[in-house]
Amino acid sequence: MDKNDILDGLKPICLCKSIKKKVFLKKISEGVKTVADLKKATGAGTGPCGGKRCTPRISEMVQKA
Ligand code: FES
Repeated sequence: MDKNDILDGLKPICLCKSIKKKVFLKKISEGVKTVADLKKATGAGTGPCGGKRCTPRISEMVQKA
């Protein structure tokens, strides 16, 4: 993991719940592969926006995985 990976991991994905990208990447590496399961595993999508802002970002990560 280089510096760019570390910085990338610190990007906020779910702003409402302050969940960073690295949290999702770890779950994906542990075998969590769907948007719904990632939300359940991290608590993302349960903030005031109801997942409007983070769902597209989570979906993008799932597609790249
Ligand atoms: S940004 Fe994730 S619930 Fe609002």
